[in-house]
Amino acid sequence: MGQTERILSVDSKNAISEALNQSISELVVTTMMAQNFHWNVTGMAFGPLHELFQKIYEDHFEAQDELAERIKAIGGHANGMLSKMVSESKVLESDGKISDKEMIKLLADAETTVASTLSGVAAIAEKSGDLLTQDLAITRGQVHEKFAWLLNSHIR
Ligand SMILES: [Fe+2]
Repeated sequence: MGQTERILSVDSKNAISEALNQSISELVVTTMMAQNFHWNVTGMAFGPLHELFQKIYEDHFEAQDELAERIKAIGGHANGMLSKMVSESKVLESDGKISDKEMIKLLADAETTVASTLSGVAAIAEKSGDLLTQDLAITRGQVHEKFAWLLNSHIR
């Protein structure tokens, strides 16, 4: 058992795991959205957008694993069911039949949502004295805010 798991009450462990699972659900939908747009984007900016969307889904795929394994490190259950992720996610799926600008806007909004959820994870972890989860959530939240800025800069 890790040191964090030893100091956490069952309620705290469950609350942190639930918050992390929520962030993973939104991250998974956002990952798929970025890959969807990587495939379907068109227009004069095809090259750079195709690449940027790939950079985003590759980053997010690794982050899903990092967040889920943090849940395991504190003794919680990592949800791995797609149907549950999609139904719980505040980020909604897109069919990808939209313009490049609409793609950028949707993905930027998704990044902002994930960042906000991770900020909430950090606050919950802090309340329980779980500084290591707090740090991970803050670090990841910053990455998602950066992607939101990168995306929004195309359409501002
Ligand atoms: Fe590809």
